[in-house]
Amino acid sequence: MYLGLDLGTSGVKALIIDGAQSSVASANAAIEVSRPHSGWSEQDPLDWLGACEAALGELKRTHPKELAAVKGIGFSGQMHGATLLDASDNILRPCMLWNDTRSHEEAAILDADPRFRTLSGNIVFPGFTAPKIAWVKNNEPAIFDQIAKILLPKDYLRFWLTGEYVSEMSDAAGTSWLDVGKREWSDELLEATHLDRSQMPSLVEGSQVSGQLRSELALRWGMGNVAVAGGAGDNAASAIGLGTVEAGSAFVSLGTSGVLFASNDAYLPNPESAVHTFCHAVPDTWHQMGVFLSATDSLNWWSNVCGESAANLTGELGDNVVAPSGLTFLPYLSGERTPHNDASIRGAFVGLDHAHDRKAMTRAVLEGVAFALRDSLQALAAAGTSLERVMAVGGGTRSPYWLKIVSNALGIPLDLPKDGDFGAAFGAARLGLLATENEDPVSICTKPEIASSFEPSQHLGAAYEDAYQLYQALYPTLTSTA
Ligand code: XUL
Repeated sequence: MYLGLDLGTSGVKALIIDGAQSSVASANAAIEVSRPHSGWSEQDPLDWLGACEAALGELKRTHPKELAAVKGIGFSGQMHGATLLDASDNILRPCMLWNDTRSHEEAAILDADPRFRTLSGNIVFPGFTAPKIAWVKNNEPAIFDQIAKILLPKDYLRFWLTGEYVSEMSDAAGTSWLDVGKREWSDELLEATHLDRSQMPSLVEGSQVSGQLRSELALRWGMGNVAVAGGAGDNAASAIGLGTVEAGSAFVSLGTSGVLFASNDAYLPNPESAVHTFCHAVPDTWHQMGVFLSATDSLNWWSNVCGESAANLTGELGDNVVAPSGLTFLPYLSGERTPHNDASIRGAFVGLDHAHDRKAMTRAVLEGVAFALRDSLQALAAAGTSLERVMAVGGGTRSPYWLKIVSNALGIPLDLPKDGDFGAAFGAARLGLLATENEDPVSICTKPEIASSFEPSQHLGAAYEDAYQLYQALYPTLTSTA
């Protein structure tokens, strides 16, 4: 048996799989996000440990034999957060999360130093880790002076489970301190933020062993000798779960945020197009990713405005996808990463007419999110990766209507996997397996069975193209809120 631990923003999921990679048990525990000021988003790292204890406590109650048979643990983690420890391993302040944008000024300053884009291969986005530490230095200097270790969220969980300070390549790539091409910390980038390597964890590949489960915890959960794998950032872990490992394979995720993820067998940075270029969770593999911040979040916002469930709003559109109506929705509700890198831009409906009713507005929201994915498709193409078909995952895939719209907007087919566990926790469990058994990642990371596919409609091609051109032309006309 192998255990995947997915430390997400809203909770921890623990999933046990067997040697044939079938899911045998899972448990969830929720965590809260605190937003004390606009743009701030924080969690108490001790809540992660509490949620992990709750999930494993439940598995011990419901599936003690399976838990006792676990040989390897892998992680998936929300990325970019900064957990700051002093020399006695005390937590110095709440963890600033991936969607905390308070450090946008510090990010712009670091991004203007050409070494960051050259060595890290990425824009220094406001959500990344390095600008958060620059913010702490500027605003909480007494805390900055005590920093002995900086750990990403799942790496703090690992530290508690194993006693080791270790990170792995995929998550480390989102700090702005990793030389992503060489897969090692960059002393130059650390120094540029007044840090050094002693404050960083050591690095392994996601599929390598990073430590052993502490005996005290193993005893508590009725477990034996368990190896703990490096694991991965949540998108790379999802890719492992979906079998998106070989070059050219890709998926779109319609979750809270929207992601277009493609695997690469070489390091292909292109920060100019605001593509994220990170290490993958298996050796010698990288990935590119377009990320925008409000995908299902846009539909959920619209659902709150209407006082109607998202399922009813998409349900009332029927089955028949029609040409865009001239009404455009720009989904920048909490700013944007790919392709504009603009934390302070906000969304809009443009082109409202007397003829537009609620259905037209719902359709515009679905189209706007689909066009944001098209922006990412173009950004990846500019970075050397052209995609011919992609898998679709995430809560938004519950609407077949939305998938048809996305396929039309992207101009390529989408494949929807059969229901089942193939997400980040499953990918994490696969990494636990890979670290324990001497198996080839490609033979373990197979693709899920496909339930249905969605093809672009030929007769709507020109109308979608025109609507996308309009969508693209509107961004520069919006005024930033900064
Ligand atoms: C990736 C990113 C998000 C978070 C969400 O760059 O910011 O996917 O990891 O958990």
